Amino acid sequence: KKQIKLGIAGLGTVGCGLLAVLEKNGDLIANRSGCEFTIGAVTARDRQRKREVDISAYHWCDNPVDMADPDKVDVVVELIGGSDGPALALARAALGKGLSFVTANKAMIAHHGAELASLAERTGASLRFEAAVAGGIPIVKTIKEGLAANRIDRMHGILNGTGNYILTMMEETGESFENALAKAQALGYAEADPSFDIDGVDTAHKIAILTSLAFGTPPTMNDLPIEGIRNISDIDIAYAKDLGFRIKLLGISRLTKEGKLDQRVHASMVEASEALAKVSGASNAIEAHGDFVGPCMIEGLGAGAGPTASAVMADLIELARGNTGSTFSLPASKLAPLPLLESGERTGEF
Ligand code: NDP
Ligand code: HSE
Repeated sequence: KKQIKLGIAGLGTVGCGLLAVLEKNGDLIANRSGCEFTIGAVTARDRQRKREVDISAYHWCDNPVDMADPDKVDVVVELIGGSDGPALALARAALGKGLSFVTANKAMIAHHGAELASLAERTGASLRFEAAVAGGIPIVKTIKEGLAANRIDRMHGILNGTGNYILTMMEETGESFENALAKAQALGYAEADPSFDIDGVDTAHKIAILTSLAFGTPPTMNDLPIEGIRNISDIDIAYAKDLGFRIKLLGISRLTKEGKLDQRVHASMVEASEALAKVSGASNAIEAHGDFVGPCMIEGLGAGAGPTASAVMADLIELARGNTGSTFSLPASKLAPLPLLESGERTGEF
């Protein structure tokens, strides 16, 4: 069998999750992909840290950028996080050398996706990020491939597992916001800086990526109003419940009739009878409207080691199968910015 040597940068929740998937399902993955995945190198911040998996047999790189070495690895998997810093340096180094690059890093793709896609296309590398949006839900593949025949005009959904877990715990068990957040962190759902989760920034990164995939525009965070759930109290949740609603943090993206882009993130009152209102815990759900498919909604776990590693592995299997098409739904050179809806023009519609 052909071998693919992985360079895994980041050995936290998702990195260790990926090693666990390879350990448990390695044979099945080899059969399905026609390739045997091996570990060419690993890196993290602290080599001595005790981890859930034994990494002592793997080649260690002190500096993540050293992993971008075609003699050591065939594909770099970036699971460090952060829009800039070592993750971006590694992405530029790996793609610049023609090494394919798989990441779960929505912050980096939302801010630098177009640049990295151009670089990948120039060097013939593949850049993939299924795990960056909605954890285990294959929403990137769904928008890019499954709905490719449609003009999508709007999408909305729950895109942050931590936020949805907090709101669910507050509503269903009366847990305080702080305790629910601490539990989400302990379960590996939250970002290294959890303000990204509770202030809506993580949802904004994800909706910006979905916007790019659906509307053929470079991902942009410009003029994207973001309001999180930090100020939602148990009283808000109780009033919403009395009125027959649940409070959900939504990412929304739509094209107006005039062709303007309306992206936003805010908490919304969702009727309790709607499917979206029933999405609980760390689950996410996204509904996209295509002109032929109509409304299409998918739901699943949006955070955590298992679901996220499942999505990272799916990208690696696609690479092994030779599916190395463009990063977004269009070649990078064809991504065109859209006029943005101005704040005075917003109606709250979605
Ligand atoms: P963790 O904080 O659990 O792990 C981050 C890893 O990166 C750690 O191993 C850490 O090293 C390493 N690291 C941090 N800084 C550096 C550095 N400067 N140089 C080298 N290594 C470094 O994060 P997650 O696994 O949760 O998340 C990883 C990525 O996946 C992020 O982009 C995140 O947004 C994304 N993601 C996470 C999901 C989740 O449910 N957790 C879901 C979907 C995406 P050390 O262990 O030594 O501290
Ligand atoms: N912190 C993110 C969340 C991880 O809670 O949804 C998955 O992207």
